[in-house]
Amino acid sequence: MQWRVQLATMESDSWKCPGSISICPVEPTIHCADIMRTGGFTHHRQFNRPDQSEKELTDSRHALQQLNQLTWDTIASRRDKLSGRQVVVPPLQPLEDEQVESRFAESFPVLAYLERALTLAAEHELSDIATGFAAIVGELRWSQNPAYDETTCSAEFLNGYAYAGFSGPDSPIRCTVPRGGLMIMAPELTYPGHKHEPMEVYLVLTPGAQWQLDEGEWFDVVPGDLILHQSWQVHSMRTGGDPLLAFAGWVSDGARRSINWSGSDVLRGE
Ligand SMILES: [Fe+2]
Repeated sequence: MQWRVQLATMESDSWKCPGSISICPVEPTIHCADIMRTGGFTHHRQFNRPDQSEKELTDSRHALQQLNQLTWDTIASRRDKLSGRQVVVPPLQPLEDEQVESRFAESFPVLAYLERALTLAAEHELSDIATGFAAIVGELRWSQNPAYDETTCSAEFLNGYAYAGFSGPDSPIRCTVPRGGLMIMAPELTYPGHKHEPMEVYLVLTPGAQWQLDEGEWFDVVPGDLILHQSWQVHSMRTGGDPLLAFAGWVSDGARRSINWSGSDVLRGE
């Protein structure tokens, strides 16, 4: 699929929208009002490559802004796979100063599977979003939760997972809520059971993964599935022969490191 973005221009901190903006030649169309609703885009000092021109900077920020909005709109329009509940996405709460809560790195071993994951995602439902991710993925900064280290996680897990934030205290769209970004897992890997206070949503983009809630039976998920994790609900994921790519979001405030691992009363990372 040929993918194309027609960009609005930004002048004096205000979005000047030329009208409807097509993010994909097929669907959907994002309107100026949708962009305004998300609040202003906050420049991230490390978000862009040093060799980018001002025009490229503006274009890439805007493309990410549009894609973030499109993804949250998609989440809000779907229902949780198990309960049938819809997720209320809170209005964006801008954050003036960056609060670094992630462990960033230039690369992570799991990113060897990124191209495969993006290709898979583009072949299934939500291919418009997946294609959008592929177009801007080079602009993202990958990270891990600082509570995940060799004292709390296996080397296999640390080599097999990474997250790239779109919105959050240290993401390009700087805010307290809603937080969200891409999560990738390597094939044949289990994300151990864990829980946290913020309510969480996953929008699944690739096939072949399984989910487990409350340490119950594992169940299959497919691209387009929305999985809701209630506050403090134990959840776990595992992959088969393919990597998992998903958009993961927190719809209420909370520090990333505030994770409890299942079966432990120890609040990791404190
Ligand atoms: Fe989680």
